[in-house]
Amino acid sequence: MEKKKSSFSGQIGFVLAAAGSAVGVGNLWRFPYLAAKDGGGLFLLIYLVLVLTFGFTLLTSDIAIGRRTKESAIGAYTKMNPKWKFLGVLTFLVPVLIMTYYAVIGGWVTKYAVIYLTGHASAAAEDGYFTSFITSPVAPVIFALLFMAVTSLIVYNGVEGGIERVSKYMMPILLVLVVVIAGYSLTLKHTDDAGQIRTGIDGFLYYLTPHFEGLTFKRFLQILLDAMSQLFFSLSVSMGIMITYGSYVKPEINLNRAVNQIEIFDTGVALLAGAMIIPAVFVFSGTDGMSAGPSLMFISLPKVFAAMGKAGNVVGILFFVTTIFATLTSCISVLESITANCMEIFHTTRKKTVLVLTVIYLTASAVIALGYSIFYFEVKLPNGSVGQLLDIMDYISNSVMMPLIALLSTILIGWIKTPDYVIDEMESSGDTFHRKKLYRVMIRYVAPVMMFVLFLQSTGILS
Ligand code: PHE
Repeated sequence: MEKKKSSFSGQIGFVLAAAGSAVGVGNLWRFPYLAAKDGGGLFLLIYLVLVLTFGFTLLTSDIAIGRRTKESAIGAYTKMNPKWKFLGVLTFLVPVLIMTYYAVIGGWVTKYAVIYLTGHASAAAEDGYFTSFITSPVAPVIFALLFMAVTSLIVYNGVEGGIERVSKYMMPILLVLVVVIAGYSLTLKHTDDAGQIRTGIDGFLYYLTPHFEGLTFKRFLQILLDAMSQLFFSLSVSMGIMITYGSYVKPEINLNRAVNQIEIFDTGVALLAGAMIIPAVFVFSGTDGMSAGPSLMFISLPKVFAAMGKAGNVVGILFFVTTIFATLTSCISVLESITANCMEIFHTTRKKTVLVLTVIYLTASAVIALGYSIFYFEVKLPNGSVGQLLDIMDYISNSVMMPLIALLSTILIGWIKTPDYVIDEMESSGDTFHRKKLYRVMIRYVAPVMMFVLFLQSTGILS
């Protein structure tokens, strides 16, 4: 039975849904942290160059492959070359793994939004609050299940009626909120105990100024690799999500323009997130508060909000609502990609597929959420860090599988199918693919080499 394939209503629907996937916690907590750590403007400069070359290449490839094959990762790679079905399966496994922990993070964010909305901001700023929350065996599970259930409900409602509809509301609101908070950050001013005055503008300049002090070749390479891994995590490429979303794009849509808009949206929100977080942290705690990962969002920022006084309660609400929107639209893209692959493999309906996946992932989310209490254990990861259950899932999917998939897919597209496979699709709507030459060089030569180095580095082989 040939069923009508789901699709986005048009260009805007597609761009906002794809931007919804791309804009996530990566933009809001990882990008600002890396910018602060990796030399401010120097990181920004490198990141921008990479977005326009490398990010553009991977995003274009994923979306074009999706639209050309009209399938999700497994079907798409099989259609391109039956011998490469394994790459489709590998790609499919990335969202399968990410989904086990993404709703858990969504649950943390929801918990914090609830704390601020119910006027308990000062509790969140106390030492040990975050740790005592995640190590409790009840609350993190409840919030994770709630987040998972909402995600499932949206995906259950389909591409246009669920994903597109939600993204069309949330993404514009998110953009406005980020601009408002960033604007407020710039107006901040604080005198510390030593009598030193720090302003938001100072923090903003610290963020934008390229810091070359102590720059060695090794450090430059490190910054480059940080920027690169951030980039493709941020664009949601090499995990099949953009292939799935691409498969829902109608033939008459100009993909060139869509790719540009998605890149601009994702990068714009990352830059604005830096402008909202770095000056605020800088004003109240110098650069010391810019720690990595969850502790920035759930430990440093609540302290910064508390230091803002009354205004901090409002800013806290706005910030965590923004983060819920960012996390939810990413989470639905992960579940959608799994759903779409399963529908193609098992020939089941959307509703039935989503129901089965929901049961599986409610269970998985609960287990991962308990990874800080009942199922707590520590493992030393090959990249040198120590992790729990959640970090292990994250490490396998993001540090090992994604660079490997990107590397293999550049070989498949660049050397086996040849770049014309993608270029033809980019021009199939009658539009010109302006960065055609760049694309050819990137996909055949530059991207494979860079992905190989990134793979060696992130798996710890290169250190
Ligand atoms: N792109 C998202 C971000 O920047 C992260 C993400 C990862 C989204 C995996 C979907 C799937 O945070």
